[in-house]
Amino acid sequence: MNITLCGIRLQNPTILASGILGVTKESIDRLGKKGAGAVTLKSLCHEERKGNPNPTMFAYPGGFLNGVGLPGQGIESACTEFERLDDLSIPVIGSIFGYTLEQFGSVAKKMSSLKPAMIEVDISCPHMDYGQVYDADPALAAKVTKEVKRNVGKIPVSIKLSPKIYDIKAMAKAVEEAGADAITAINAYPGMVIDLETCRPLLASKIGGISGPALKPIAVKCVYEIYETVKIPIIGTGGVTSGKDAIEMIMAGATAVGIGTAVYYHGDEVFLKICEEMESWMKEHKISSLDAIRGCAHQQQKK
Ligand SMILES: Cc1cc2nc3c(=O)[nH]c(=O)nc-3n(C[C@H](O)[C@H](O)[C@H](O)COP(=O)(O)O)c2cc1C
Repeated sequence: MNITLCGIRLQNPTILASGILGVTKESIDRLGKKGAGAVTLKSLCHEERKGNPNPTMFAYPGGFLNGVGLPGQGIESACTEFERLDDLSIPVIGSIFGYTLEQFGSVAKKMSSLKPAMIEVDISCPHMDYGQVYDADPALAAKVTKEVKRNVGKIPVSIKLSPKIYDIKAMAKAVEEAGADAITAINAYPGMVIDLETCRPLLASKIGGISGPALKPIAVKCVYEIYETVKIPIIGTGGVTSGKDAIEMIMAGATAVGIGTAVYYHGDEVFLKICEEMESWMKEHKISSLDAIRGCAHQQQKK
């Protein structure tokens, strides 16, 4: 089940998605022991952020709606906390965002000093003003990619795309041409829930991001389209809760699989659970490696 993603060895293809757990050195080691292949840190920018007022989360049968608003420490404080990220038991992906091109560059540079295995660039938060600027504009996404790449040396860079776009292929192509080493697809999809008693949107931020099972078919479609368009690897993220969901992402073309909301339902054990379910599906179908099925949904359509 081990894979190589942009030259990084992962014990299996499962990756904790950004923003789901407050990650410390201890929790990274614990998640490694519990079976995660890699861990993505919360998205950080140049300043500490309080995030949005409550309520910020709502669980409904299809998954979650969250409007947490990227709370968290700034990059400086993360640099003090971690010092370095390359001496932990599993690969760590640093996630960054900015409001301006310069901020994307300078936060990326500071993140690179921690030596993460990869840097993920969040240009796609569904309920933040900055996300609205970059998430659907291929030319701007390319500029962000170039600025980040210019500042991080040899560390691979993955650009995290939004599903909220008519032509995700154009975004994927633009960031690949600008030098991205991978694409993370996808971030949450914008949505809203109305509270019938107050007659108002339930979240304080009004709009939140839909994640969990409701997002999975959208994520699979995005991964499928991106795989048709670019050669760089894809971290397929959105609604993966079971081994079968993960296999579906790999068949669409993902190299690795991000797992977020499922951690709320199944805890840290979810990584082991998903890997065991993948292995048992592969055994049942006499598939010896993930390479044998990666992108196979495309080949079957050509037959
Ligand atoms: C509470 C919460 C916080 C999130 N914070 C971030 C974040 O800081 N940066 C980011 O790139 N994505 C963030 N996301 C999006 C997830 O990383 C992931 O792309 C999305 O939830 C879809 O995956 P899932 O269905 O497995 O949760 C967040 C999602 C949730 C539910």
